[in-house]
Amino acid sequence: MEKKRILTGDRPTGKLHLGHYVGSIANRVRLQNEYDCFFIIADLHMLTTKPAREDIEAIADNARDIVLDYLSCGIDPEKATIYLQSAVQEVYEMNLIFEMLVTVPRLQRVPSLKEMAQGANLAEMPFGLLGYPVLQAADILMPRAHLVPVGKDNESHVEITREIARRFNIMYGEVFPIPDVMVGDVPTLVGTDGNAKMSKSLGNAILLSDDSKTVEKKVFGMYTDPKRISADVPGTVEGNPVFVYHDIFNKDKQEVEDLKDRYRRGRVGDVEVKEKLSAALNSFMNPLRERRAYYESEKGLVDEIIFQGTLKTREEAKKTLSAMKKAMGLSGIWNRISRKAEERSKRTGQQQAKQA
Ligand code: TRP
Repeated sequence: MEKKRILTGDRPTGKLHLGHYVGSIANRVRLQNEYDCFFIIADLHMLTTKPAREDIEAIADNARDIVLDYLSCGIDPEKATIYLQSAVQEVYEMNLIFEMLVTVPRLQRVPSLKEMAQGANLAEMPFGLLGYPVLQAADILMPRAHLVPVGKDNESHVEITREIARRFNIMYGEVFPIPDVMVGDVPTLVGTDGNAKMSKSLGNAILLSDDSKTVEKKVFGMYTDPKRISADVPGTVEGNPVFVYHDIFNKDKQEVEDLKDRYRRGRVGDVEVKEKLSAALNSFMNPLRERRAYYESEKGLVDEIIFQGTLKTREEAKKTLSAMKKAMGLSGIWNRISRKAEERSKRTGQQQAKQA
């Protein structure tokens, strides 16, 4: 039996961080054997908030950075197809067709879009940004994906995709599976400064590409329990970012329990908690660093991976778009017109031949 499919990915706006890892990438690595995976570098989505020339010029480098992040996490290019969205023309067409299957008020209720507009300092909502989830539906439905592992903020977009797929199937016939969403174990990772969400633009992120010294420095600057002015003050563990990270990344559960216990009783200094955290993070990240070093040393390999993945994706996109147009009866219009035109030119061609 054929494997089921995954489609997910990221906008090429910069390097990925630990929040991306726990929110989505860990799921992708885990599922890449079980599913046929497509990972999109969503540069057209980036244009919805950053359409300027300089942003476009940065896409190639940003795309390489993200792909290096994927590969360093253990995504295997032999198993997964990584591709550049803007190089797959069919997606632009699918986007337009899907635009007819969703209403403006429905899109206006998607909470993340307003946040994105604000984040990009846009006073008013661009038409294309309102259509962001529609374009995402085109991405997901293009390979007829069954599962979409994403961060929490993308859940509502996958819901739109499901609605569009259902609607298409009802109106024109069963072309698409209804894809399920999968959010990671840690839907939103707290930032190093205690802000609810780790984000590069907030400056509270630990990047997957950070070296061990940088990780140490960031961990030592982390926000902890502000009540603890000295090591002997009992502290709060729950929701405390250093312990949130310990729980996620420290494999030595006994060490974590011991630290928590002493922290609650005021028997451990922040320095020890943080030293052990940066050691745990670095031992999690060392295998990533090794894989990254390999892919960086192979000149042109990352570009080759994106190139081959995009060629393969184009084939899938062609198949789906043609199935869509057939189901809708769209391809039939042109077929009939061109057949009649050919018939006529044959007839008139013959008549002309007779006259001559
Ligand atoms: N919206 C995703 C983000 O937040 C990027 C993306 C575009 C995507 N198309 C997708 C994610 C399809 C999952 C599936 O960056």
